[in-house]
Amino acid sequence: MENMMTLLVLLSAILACSESAKILLVFPGPSKSHGILGDGYVRHLLNAGHEVTYITPFTQRPPTAKLRTVDVSSNFDLLPPNIINLKGIMDKSSEDMTAIFMILMMLDIAEKTIANANVQKLLNDPTEQFDAVIVEWFFSELGAGFATVYECPLIWSSSVDPHWQVLQLLDEPTNPAYTVDVMSTYSPPLSFLQRVNELWNQLMVQFLKYVWLDGVEEKIYTSLFTPILEKRVRKLPSFYEVRYNASLLLSNSYVTTSGGASLPQSHKFIGGYHIDDDVTPLSEDLKKLMDSAKDGVVYFSMGSNLRSKDLPDEVKINLLKMFGSLKQTVIWKFEEVLPNLPKNVHILQWAPQQAILAHPNLAVFITHGGLLSTTESIYFGVPIIGIPVYGDQFMNVEKSMNKGYALKVDLSYTMSEELKKTIEEVISNKRYAEKAKELSFIHHDRPVKPGQELAHWVNHVINTRGAPHLRSPALDLPLYKRKFLDLAALVAVLVLAVYILLKRALAYICSQVCSNKGKTASKKKKNN
Ligand SMILES: *[C@@H]1O[C@H](CO)[C@@H](O)[C@H](O)[C@H]1NC(C)=O
Repeated sequence: MENMMTLLVLLSAILACSESAKILLVFPGPSKSHGILGDGYVRHLLNAGHEVTYITPFTQRPPTAKLRTVDVSSNFDLLPPNIINLKGIMDKSSEDMTAIFMILMMLDIAEKTIANANVQKLLNDPTEQFDAVIVEWFFSELGAGFATVYECPLIWSSSVDPHWQVLQLLDEPTNPAYTVDVMSTYSPPLSFLQRVNELWNQLMVQFLKYVWLDGVEEKIYTSLFTPILEKRVRKLPSFYEVRYNASLLLSNSYVTTSGGASLPQSHKFIGGYHIDDDVTPLSEDLKKLMDSAKDGVVYFSMGSNLRSKDLPDEVKINLLKMFGSLKQTVIWKFEEVLPNLPKNVHILQWAPQQAILAHPNLAVFITHGGLLSTTESIYFGVPIIGIPVYGDQFMNVEKSMNKGYALKVDLSYTMSEELKKTIEEVISNKRYAEKAKELSFIHHDRPVKPGQELAHWVNHVINTRGAPHLRSPALDLPLYKRKFLDLAALVAVLVLAVYILLKRALAYICSQVCSNKGKTASKKKKNN
C-alpha cells in the first residue's frame, strides 16, 4: 500500500515535470550565425515538447502548432553598411569594432527590438504568459526586461566562450590574468604586457559602463517597460534587480574551446548543440567529388556573414592561381560564378559545411575562425587554418593555435603565398590532424549531448521556479563587502589612529625631554 502511494506520488511528480511549458526565445541579432544558434534552441525545445515563441529577424519558417515567430527582420536595417565587408576591413575603411562601438550598436538593436511593433503587440497583451524567457546576451542586458514582464525565470544564452562581461551577471567578473575579453586578440598564457593591457581594457570598459553606459541603458529600460507594466497594474522593478536576476547562463562553448577556468554553478556549457547529430548527407555530385579526391580536400569558407566575393579582385585572382597549383581538390564557398576556374577548384554558392567537415577525405578547413566554424571543426576532428577578421575570431584562432590543431594567416593583399605554405604544413605534418582528433574525442566524451543538456537545464529552471539554489551568493553582496573594502577601510583607520597617537605621544615625550633639557641647561647657565 505504502509502496503504491510512493509510486503514485512519483508518477504525478514526473507527469507534472514533463508537461509542456511556454517559452519565449529572444534572438534578435541580424546575423546568420546568431540565427543558427537561435534555431538550435527552437529545435531542442520543440523536441522536448515545449511551446516556443521566437523573436527573430529570420522569418522564413512556417509557423506550427507549437512554434510562433515574432518578426524583427527590420533589425537588418540597423547594421551600419559595409560593417562586415572584407575589402572595407582590409582597406581599414570599415568602422573599427571596439568594445564601446559594439556595446552602443547592440544596445541600439536591443532597444529597437523591444520597440518593434510586432514585439510591442506581444508585450502589451496582458493575457500573454510564459514559463521561462531565454534571451541571447550580446553586449546589452535590456532583454532581461522580458522576464520581468512575465514574472518568470530569465535564462541568458551566450554565443561565445564565457568572458567577464557576461559572467559578472552571475557571479564576479573573471580574473583578467587568464580570462580575456571577448574582443581580445590575445589568448592565455599572457605575457606581462598582454596581461597589463588586458587588465587596462577590462577596467576601462567597466568604468565607462559604470559612469555612462549603464545609465543610458537604464533610461531606455525605464521608458520601454514602464507603460507595459502599467497595463499589468504593476510597478517597474529597478534595472539593477532585473539585470542580475538570471537563473542560468547557457554558453555556446565547451572546455575544448574555453579551457578549464572555474565557472559559477549557474553557468552551463552547451557548445555544439547547434550541430544536428544526423548530418544531412552530401549531394550525389559533392560526394563523388570528395570520394575521388585521392590527395585530400581543402575546404575554404569565410562563414555566412563575410563573403569571399567581397575580397579585392587581385586577392581573388591570386588565391585562385594558388589553389590551382595544389594537388588537392579545393572546395571554395564563393557567392558568385568565377570565370577560368582551375580543374581542381570547385565553387559552391552555399556549402553544406557540416557534411563536408564530416567527410574522411577532408584535409584542412580554411576559416575566418568564427566560433560555430571552430566548434564544428573540433566536433568533426578537422585541423584548421584561421584567417580572423573581427570580433571573437582573433581570440578563437589564437586559442586554436595554442591547442595545436590550427595555424593562422593574416588577412592581407599578399596572403596567398603564405596561405599556400601553411596549407602544405598543415597537410604534411600529421600533428595538426592528430590534435584535432584528440579534441574531437574530448568534445564527444561527455555524459549527455549538449542539446539534451540544454533541454534539461531549461526544464530544471522551470520546475524549480528559477533555480535559486544555483545562484551565487556573490550577487547579494555589494562590491565593498565582496572585496573586503570595509575591512581595508577599518585597517586604514586603525593604522592612521595608531600613527596619530604615536606621533602625539612622541611629541609629548619629546617636549618633556626637551623642556627638561632646557631647564637643566638654564640651571647650568644660572650656576655659571
Ligand atoms: C527574478 O527571478 C525570479 C525567479 O525566476 C522571478 O520569479 C522574479 O519575477 C524575477 N524578478 C524580477 C524583478 O524580474
